[in-house]
Amino acid sequence: MIVTAKFVVRGGSPLSGSVSIGGAKNSALPIVAAAALAGQGESILENVPNNSDIQHLCQILLELGCEVEWVGETSLRVNAEGLSNHVAPYNIARKLRGSTYVMGLLLARMRRGEVACPGGCDIGARPVDFHLKGFKALGADVVVEHGAMVAENVELRGGRFYVDRASVGTTVNMMITASLTPGQTLLENAACEPEIVDLANFINAMGGRVRGAGTNMVRIEGVEQMRGVRHEVIPDRIEAGTYMLMAAAAGGDVLVENMIPEHLSTVIAKLREAGQEVEEQMDAVRVIARRPIRAVDVETQVHPGYPTDLQSPFVALMGLSDGISVVQETIFENRFGFTNELGRMGANIKVDRNTAIVRGVERYTGAPVEAKDIRGGAALVTAALAAEGETEIGGIQFIDRGYTRMEEKLAAMGADIRRVEAESEAAE
Ligand code: UD1
Repeated sequence: MIVTAKFVVRGGSPLSGSVSIGGAKNSALPIVAAAALAGQGESILENVPNNSDIQHLCQILLELGCEVEWVGETSLRVNAEGLSNHVAPYNIARKLRGSTYVMGLLLARMRRGEVACPGGCDIGARPVDFHLKGFKALGADVVVEHGAMVAENVELRGGRFYVDRASVGTTVNMMITASLTPGQTLLENAACEPEIVDLANFINAMGGRVRGAGTNMVRIEGVEQMRGVRHEVIPDRIEAGTYMLMAAAAGGDVLVENMIPEHLSTVIAKLREAGQEVEEQMDAVRVIARRPIRAVDVETQVHPGYPTDLQSPFVALMGLSDGISVVQETIFENRFGFTNELGRMGANIKVDRNTAIVRGVERYTGAPVEAKDIRGGAALVTAALAAEGETEIGGIQFIDRGYTRMEEKLAAMGADIRRVEAESEAAE
């Protein structure tokens, strides 16, 4: 028998009050990895979300010889003076996409490395070819052998690299590796996400030299040595956007606090277009749900376009709209898996390749459903909050990868949601 957990949600209670947003997972992952670039001193990282992806990355750094410890609920101390092992433990590294950053780190610090090719969520193929091309542009021949990225005794030098498809992970990795690579590196078509800017600020505070982060042209001047510093991770725009969409779907009046409204301008625009009342404050956004929910179309794009990570909960909202909404996913090819589960709750969604045609229904009804990725899981919770009756959501280990204590935050706003441990037969 294995013990798994699920959420049991009784829908129909409008949300009210406020929710405080934690640090960004997608910023904290590169920043925790980059903290180990420092060969001297320790970094104190604040506002780090204590979710399972971060815990796995911390375990990898520990195995590599770094000191990593929580010194507060969301504060992490990293001292990488003792980094001495160049092989990341296979079974942990394969669990998360962020482990690719460990390869960039090992090349920078050790000039060699072995890191399992990443897993992560089931949202489509997660290749690493751009990363490998980027390492090559810096002089490192990284090969994939037996499911791992492997490099031995490489000699790094700055180079020029065009990042295919403005990939977030590739931009991060190039910034990490090039920071300890002699010479200048120029990244063209770099990703512009706020998490890239946060990482650049952190690297620069450690003594690195990154210029142009937040634009599609990033210049990195390699330095010889970096030292640990104190840094506060930016708020998680995806967590904030998720609660904004949940408030609109469940009904009610919610203040989403400790966030940066400018990071979510496209989501705010879409919510308003859908007839919802959205009030922007200095570091908070208030969402007052209105009916009807208007059907609007959306297409995911790289930042500052509509974020792919908020496509799934948006589809859950549109499933309750007064018309037909066309949602196009342009970043990941397989990100509509959750719509089958929404269908079990009464949603009327047809998917054709990268397009979902969402016909609004009057209500969802509770059903047993299964989360298969972080954001698809968040979409199921969004639907469950609005649904008539009880929904049981399995697979919540995916939700835990990206959201810290989601059920507690929702319950504090009046939702009827609880986490229950369940025993199930182990698969043979
Ligand atoms: C990051 C985020 C993820 C977000 C995504 C897009 C982290 C840990 N994850 O993922 O939440 O949804 O950005 O905003 O920060 N690609 C390749 N080859 C590669 C790399 C990427 O073909 O070597 C493709 C991907 O399959 C995808 C596209 O490029 O279709 C963009 O991916 P990328 O921006 O790299 O996403 P991640 O960094 O993996």
